[in-house]
Amino acid sequence: MAVARDTGFTVWLTGLSGAGKTTIGHAVAAELERRGLHVEMLDGDVVRTHLSKGLGYSREDRDTNIERIGWVASRLTRHGAAVVVAAISPYDATRKRARALVSEQGPFVEVWVKAPVEECARRDVKGLYAKAFAGEITQFTGVDDPYEEPTDAEVVADTVALSPGESAALVLAELERLGVVPVAAPATG
Ligand code: ADX
Repeated sequence: MAVARDTGFTVWLTGLSGAGKTTIGHAVAAELERRGLHVEMLDGDVVRTHLSKGLGYSREDRDTNIERIGWVASRLTRHGAAVVVAAISPYDATRKRARALVSEQGPFVEVWVKAPVEECARRDVKGLYAKAFAGEITQFTGVDDPYEEPTDAEVVADTVALSPGESAALVLAELERLGVVPVAAPATG
């Protein structure tokens, strides 16, 4: 295959809680593995149980969380990994810092996983929106805490209109366009 497997990159999924970042991230990661790449997923919920344990949701703590994820992503990218990040990453300036750090090592593909807060609240997979609207938790992104919409995302995945598989396909098409993943072999049989 003509594609160098050493070309590391980071796919950075940003969006509201419940927009579909983790679901799309898993779909992308599974397909990248199927195509023979070394994949590492950094999911905000998981990172917060290890690397960012103890951090909360103030701007300062979110920025620290995102800076840590950006740093790890850049190190992994440097060593040829396909990194998939799924984190709300609500602040534009902080996303840009992560982009700058990773871009020293390889492509940074920002994916805005886009769904209106009303839709995320309707899905409310974790029951957190109900608590946020009831005032039981505060500083909840999209309810009483900001989400700065991306202006420089390479991919916008509207998860009201698209299935997770369709959103993942948009991301994979962008990675193919950049020449960092092998094009899928046609299905046999
Ligand atoms: S980020 O803002 O620092 O990028 P991150 O993606 O790591 O956030 O974590 C978000 C997850 O934490 C959400 O999916 C949700 O499960 C949980 N969470 C708990 N409290 C909050 C809150 N106040 N705002 C957003 N997410 C929260």
